[in-house]
Amino acid sequence: MRRITINKIKKSKNKKPLVCLSVYSKVLTDIADKYCDILLVGDSLGMVLHGMNSTREVSFDDMIRHGKTVRKFAKRSLVVVDMPYKSYTNKMQAYQNAKKIMKLTNCDAVKLEGGKNVSKIIQFLVRNKVPVMGHVGLLPQSSSSFKLQGKKRVEEIKILNDAIAISKSGAFSIVIECVIEKLAKKITNTINIPTIGIGASKYCDGQILVADDIIGLTDFTPKFVKRYSNLKSTIQKSIKKYSNDVKNRKFPSIKNTYK
Ligand code: KIV
Repeated sequence: MRRITINKIKKSKNKKPLVCLSVYSKVLTDIADKYCDILLVGDSLGMVLHGMNSTREVSFDDMIRHGKTVRKFAKRSLVVVDMPYKSYTNKMQAYQNAKKIMKLTNCDAVKLEGGKNVSKIIQFLVRNKVPVMGHVGLLPQSSSSFKLQGKKRVEEIKILNDAIAISKSGAFSIVIECVIEKLAKKITNTINIPTIGIGASKYCDGQILVADDIIGLTDFTPKFVKRYSNLKSTIQKSIKKYSNDVKNRKFPSIKNTYK
């Protein structure tokens, strides 16, 4: 099976929308790999899997552990791993950490959050053969609240300039998180790399959501998440039935017993 390449992602600008999901585990990677172009091992895993309060608590080792798993089971999608909080505060530190993430997980690229403030770091990484995905708009690693971005004119100009700086720095694509439609459209029409929206309207070159959110494993329900199933309730019913079976000596039955 042919793997999706960075070049293929770059060429998808203004073509078929890119399908992207954040996944962290074997089962969800196995399934998502069949339908996605990009699988992101996002640091949202801190809240989703480990009940942390923010992505700032996620460690380097957390990202390595889940990055390795996703890479191992993704046969065709491009795998991108988030660089954790404070792992890219200067060029050299960013380079050493990005190299380590790529070597230990075997992923295809790293993602880091920020605009003009990280553009020189991204440029350094790309020049040294580290493919980078950018991330502008709402930045979970540096924002204390979950708030729509780009409504005020000053915010709009800043986010647009951030996206331009990231595209000029050599990133191969960029996530735009939680911004108004008009701004997402403007960014997509202005920069020449694919934009991947999360809460950023249909006017992006692709979409990304967290797999656990769309299958109803989490209770995270902002307007931009579309829920396709409610697995939490299915799991709850199953475990309740198991509990009753054990208490009432209905499990194990003859079918589950070795003779
Ligand atoms: O951490 C993450 O999963 C992300 C995506 C939701 C874009 O950054």
